[in-house]
This record gives sequence, structure tokens and C-alpha cells, in this order.
Amino acid sequence: MAIVAVGSVNTDLVVKVKSFPIPGETVYGDDFSTYAGGKGANQAAAAARLGSPVAMLGGVGDDGNSSERLADLRDAGVDISRILIRDQTPGGVALIQVDDSGQNQIVIVPGANGTVSPEDVRDALPSLLSAGDLVLAQFELPFDTVKAALEVARAADARTIVNTAPFVDGTDGLLPLIDILVVNEIEAGQLLGRDPVSVDEAPSAVQQLRSTGPGIVFATLGSAGAVIHDASGTVTIPAPQVNVVDTTGAGDATVGAFATALDDGLSTEDAARMAVMAGSFAVQRPGAQPSQPTRRELDAFIAERSSDS
Ligand code: RIB
Repeated sequence: MAIVAVGSVNTDLVVKVKSFPIPGETVYGDDFSTYAGGKGANQAAAAARLGSPVAMLGGVGDDGNSSERLADLRDAGVDISRILIRDQTPGGVALIQVDDSGQNQIVIVPGANGTVSPEDVRDALPSLLSAGDLVLAQFELPFDTVKAALEVARAADARTIVNTAPFVDGTDGLLPLIDILVVNEIEAGQLLGRDPVSVDEAPSAVQQLRSTGPGIVFATLGSAGAVIHDASGTVTIPAPQVNVVDTTGAGDATVGAFATALDDGLSTEDAARMAVMAGSFAVQRPGAQPSQPTRRELDAFIAERSSDS
């Protein structure tokens, strides 16, 4: 089986700050770095680094940043042959602040990501898919483009795994097209039309969300781990304690690893355990894609943490 990511490619422009400025305030940053990012590219790279065959469908510009992002994806092992190169629009960028606790604030400017149309997806995606493959989507491409990807996947008997980030209105209408739903506490609340879900509320929230269509619901809870719900029931998965440097892209490392593990045939619970470990690994290093583990790094981290307990 294979994984096809339909999603964004960004260049992340990252500043480290002691604490986030309030509106109207100017503060000094400690450091400035440029990293490979974009939720789609991050999730594609995360799965490819763990050994999955991954192709990506998306859009970049013909600028220098975009060339570097394509090279990064290729180096991670992603098939980039279906990424569209636009000559009139620059590649997507994300302006990111990371504070001393590792939390972030992100503003994205879609650029070429915003030019990927439903027609582009209907043209390119069918030839990439076989029954049982996984289509991985997020919401940094236009909503109708994501919807078209899910429809094409359904027609091809592929499974869809959707991370509802960033949350956009109308996502609830796509739930019947989603086989595997990945949300964080805020997105779970948004989908249920309520406030963010607390750790204690997460088990009932995933059950409620599964009743809307998806066969598997995976709610990530940051340092509290995750909760999953499928036909076998609900399981809470703790995260190991780690030194948090930068949470940017940790959710994407989690989703990519979850896709790899499911594609490898692991049970939902085992896949979620591996995914939580991948996310915990990623928060210990700066940057989105540079923080993701290889298979060897993840295996070593899991072995080290199981011998701790
Ligand atoms: O999920 C993290 C990602 O969100 C960053 O890499 C940034 O590009 C934004 O898309």
C-alpha cells in the first residue's frame, strides 16, 4: 500500500522569542531560522522518513524557497513528481514565533498552495491511487480541493486520513468522506460546536465524533498524549516526558507516523502508540521537518523509553 499526501508546502520563517508580544508591542527575538514546513509536506516527509512509500500532490512557486522545499521532500524520500510548479505565484510561507516554552504562534500565507484546484486533484490523483491506499489531507489547500481529494479517494476505494488543521468552517460536512479523523483538543471542540475539549472530556468527545462517520478518531492532547476510538473501543495513550524545545510540526510528525503505522498494518492502538512517540520525539528538536525522526531514531527512542518504565 502507499500513502498520497494532498496538502501544503511552506517555507517556515521562525523567530525565537522569550514570550509572545501583545498587540502593539515590539520585542526582541533571540534567533531567526528558515525551515521546511507546511502541514501537508510535514506529514508526507514524516511518513517517508519512517519508510513508507509516499507521493505528494500540492503546489509550489518557481522561487528559491520552493526549490529548496522540493529538494527537502525528495531527500526525505517523497515522490514529488506530482507537485505543481507555478510561475506566477510564490510558494507558501509561514511566519512563526516560538517562545521559551516551545509553544508557537503561526500565520500562513498560502501562495501557490492556494492555486491547487479541484480539477488539478481530479486530473492527478486517480492515477496515484489503488484500493486500500491512504490519502492524507489537511486544510492548507482550498476547501473544495480537499473535498475533491476525499471524493476521488472514496471512488478509488482508498482510505482517507484527515487532520482538521487549520480548522475551517464546513469541515463537519466532510465527515462522511473521512475514514480516519485526527484532531487536537481545539479542533475536536470546533467540530462538536463547543469549547476546546479537556483531557478528561476527550474520551467522550472521540466517541461523539466517531458517531458522525469516521471509523477511527484520534485526538492528540499535547503532553497528555492522545485518545483513540475505533470499533474496538476507546484507549488513552500517555506521552513520555521530554524536554520541549519547539512544538512546531509535532502534530504533523504524529499524523505522518500514524499513517505509516496504519499502512504497515498495525492495529489502531499500536499505530497510535507509535504516533504519540513520534510527536514526542519531534518536540525535542527545532523546526518542523528537521525535527522528525527517521525509523532508526524512532525505534531507538521507543526502546529507550520502554526500558525507562
Ligand atoms: O503544523 C506546522 C506547520 O504549520 C508549519 O510547518 C507551518 O508551515 C504551518 O503550515
